[in-house]
Amino acid sequence: MAIKIAVLKETAEFEARVAATPEMVKKYLGKGFSVTIVSGAGTAASYPDADYESAGATLASDNNKAAKDADIILCVQSPVSLPDMKKDALLIGLLAPYGDKARLENYAKENVTAIAMELVPRITRAQAMDVLSSQSNLAGYKAVLDAAATYTKAFPMMMTAAGTVPPARVFVMGAGVAGLQAIATAKRLGAIVSATDVRPAAKEQVQSLGASFVMVESDEVKQAETAGGYAKEMSDDFKQKQAKLVAETLVKQDIVITTALIPGRPAPKLITEEMVRSMKPGSVIVDLAVEMGGNCALSKAGEIVEVNGVKIMGLRNIPSRIATDASALYARNLLNLIGILMNKEGAIELNMEDDIVKSTVLTKDGQIIHPNFQ
Ligand code: NAI
Repeated sequence: MAIKIAVLKETAEFEARVAATPEMVKKYLGKGFSVTIVSGAGTAASYPDADYESAGATLASDNNKAAKDADIILCVQSPVSLPDMKKDALLIGLLAPYGDKARLENYAKENVTAIAMELVPRITRAQAMDVLSSQSNLAGYKAVLDAAATYTKAFPMMMTAAGTVPPARVFVMGAGVAGLQAIATAKRLGAIVSATDVRPAAKEQVQSLGASFVMVESDEVKQAETAGGYAKEMSDDFKQKQAKLVAETLVKQDIVITTALIPGRPAPKLITEEMVRSMKPGSVIVDLAVEMGGNCALSKAGEIVEVNGVKIMGLRNIPSRIATDASALYARNLLNLIGILMNKEGAIELNMEDDIVKSTVLTKDGQIIHPNFQ
């Protein structure tokens, strides 16, 4: 029996992405799977129903109809209410496992095997499934364009007969995947770019993009990176030194893009109200960490807050604002993950010894099995 894949229509607010593109539908069919997609699922990401049909997918009228006899159900965000699913069906998506235990308990109660894409480990073998990278990269790019669109001055230096327009000064806080793409994008637009991070490894990456690196010199930074490549929460002493340096740097900036995150914890607060008030009117802050509490004390999710002429943009779900490309990359990440959930005979078989499988499966056989969420 062919494995049946269902692609849901997203039900979360502000979600324009879709978990499969017509190109991926062809790939699934090529593997012998069948694909059902909910009508309109790709519309907001500019993938019309007709393209899915010509790729070979069957259309369903709603999530329940698509999911009820599927073996694998694909989504971007966890559905607001779970559709009817077969016992032991796989539900794969950005299931936001931190902070909503009730939802995890519900997956277990409904007997679905829930797989959280954001828990794919940062190991070389998993790079092609790394949704945090594929989505953050686009978010970093889009954040700079959002800032440029709101900023009332130009980014590049322009020397004209009517006078010289000075280049914008852009400061990127957190030089991970999103931050590095933000740096590259701001450089391409002609800005003077600087960046900061707590991981010393970021210095060379920032400098190789032509930006200057601003960082607190301290022994603590030598241990700031976990084995997985993520940042740790820093000591109070470090935070004070960092705050002083940030305060001195911010007064000179026009645009600030903040991307600092610590997995599973609230985002570090890096910009205080006082610092915002020290900035020039017309400056723009884009807080990419807003959904994890924000790097700026004044950010509000889904809003643009204006204080003293400084605009603080707390746009939600930035990858969804570039939904066509974000969906294409995300859909490819899912295809690659599904590849390791199959045995040689082409049947679904979860090898719980595999690092990627072990790290991502939240619930199985009616239980929450992931050690981080028990
Ligand atoms: P993230 O989204 O968790 O955090 C963004 C950035 O914020 C990080 O660079 C982090 O060091 C920084 N940060 C955290 N607290 C901070 C603070 N208080 N002040 C300033 N900056 C702070 O991280 P992301 O972008 O997901 O990448 C984390 C690491 O993973 C990087 O080293 C990246 O190169 C690595 N990586 C490895 C991959 C692999 O397959 N080997 C794939 C993708 C990323």
